[in-house]
Amino acid sequence: MTTTNINSTRQHPPARSDFAPDFLWGCATSSYQIEGAGQEDGRVESIWDRFAATPGKVRDGSNGAVACDHYHRWPEDFDIGRDMGLNAYRFSIAWPRIFSSVDGQPNGKGLDFYSRLVDGMLERGLQPWATLYHWDLPQFLQDRGGWAERATVDAYLRFVDAMTRRLGDRVQHWITHNEPWCTAMIGNYEGLHAPGLKDFKTALQVCHHVLLSHGKAVPLIRANVPDARVGISLSLHPLRAASDSARDQAASLRHDGLRYRWFLDPLHGRGYPAATLDAVGAAAPVIEPGDMEAIAAKTDFLGVNYYFPETIEDAPGEGPLSVRVLPPKDVETTALGWEVAPEGLAELLARIESDYHPGPMYITENGACYDDVVGPDGEVRDEARSRYLQRHLAALREVIAEGVPVKGYFAWSLVDNFEWAEGYLRRFGLVHIDYATQERRLKDSGKWYRSFLRQE
Ligand code: FCB
Repeated sequence: MTTTNINSTRQHPPARSDFAPDFLWGCATSSYQIEGAGQEDGRVESIWDRFAATPGKVRDGSNGAVACDHYHRWPEDFDIGRDMGLNAYRFSIAWPRIFSSVDGQPNGKGLDFYSRLVDGMLERGLQPWATLYHWDLPQFLQDRGGWAERATVDAYLRFVDAMTRRLGDRVQHWITHNEPWCTAMIGNYEGLHAPGLKDFKTALQVCHHVLLSHGKAVPLIRANVPDARVGISLSLHPLRAASDSARDQAASLRHDGLRYRWFLDPLHGRGYPAATLDAVGAAAPVIEPGDMEAIAAKTDFLGVNYYFPETIEDAPGEGPLSVRVLPPKDVETTALGWEVAPEGLAELLARIESDYHPGPMYITENGACYDDVVGPDGEVRDEARSRYLQRHLAALREVIAEGVPVKGYFAWSLVDNFEWAEGYLRRFGLVHIDYATQERRLKDSGKWYRSFLRQE
């Protein structure tokens, strides 16, 4: 494991010149969180519209109907990104803008919107990184069972086919899925995200179909896109056992089997980890012949979304694996209570490299939530977020120096946005949004990223 001296940030703050000249510097966003225009140009209901309309599901009772109105204001947002010095931008495509029924044709207005969006990125020197699924499943598919149904894999492939045919002449980089763990477990076991189900067996079946849809999309994207670069973005945490006791150590290993290996093992041709399959027992997914081979389709990169480490305690009878994730104690946290641990990023990347050698890795999300306020002088002094970025980039520099092939970094997020079950109460942007006026305002962290990227 890597030990990264985070104090080195102070002695030697990260500089863009510490990274390769062709390193990608981006910001990431997702469709439902920023676009708004919920009813426009033929967009149909998504599972997040339905979930957000259910009382008690989103903390401030809000939804993504207007969000940052990015659907209309994207030129301004991309100008800001260009002026910040970004050379890449990660966005996602809202499936409900493209298909309104199972058997229908793709919606021309939806396709046109993303075509304009991509042109807007290219005009500003932003390399487009398209995520095909960032949680906004069309509700009509959920009504038929959603990702728990195998037919949703076929529906996804039709969507992928339509998008890659339309954008493949300009978009080379494709991310099949954002954080399958969250799609499956937070949405279908914990019930905290759409569709809000609480069934472990369903969650594992969802997970299997999401991974299968990823694997089947890989050759399809390659067929439609010249020189395609295809990958998947996983949310991963370095794990720490709560104590040296044999019970906590074993609990940590159990959690690791589901949280880390359940994804990375099958993606790398090793199937689901045997001990975890055993532990989940009757909740194991239905797997058809050929599925595991499809999931292991060779990809071009791995996307890593990193926010914080997890500490695991043995908790007999709790959850499917008798483990508990402990809240952080006596450590620095963000406003969401997430531990700030830049060394965890280095540790995680070094581990993935030594376990799987996945090829090029990209940090497709990393960022922090703080209670930002606009000061009387009109400035947002989010010094903690600037420090967060600097410390994580310093950790990244160290791990790259040790030979781990990380080729790009996307900060989450370009703009404040709809933070899922937290609604608009949580701000992650480098750009502040005043939701009453839709005014954009570069935070100090955005200014820091700009001076870092421009090497000022
Ligand atoms: C990730 C999600 C992203 C955002 C950040 C804070 O899990 O992919 O949409 O909500 O967390």
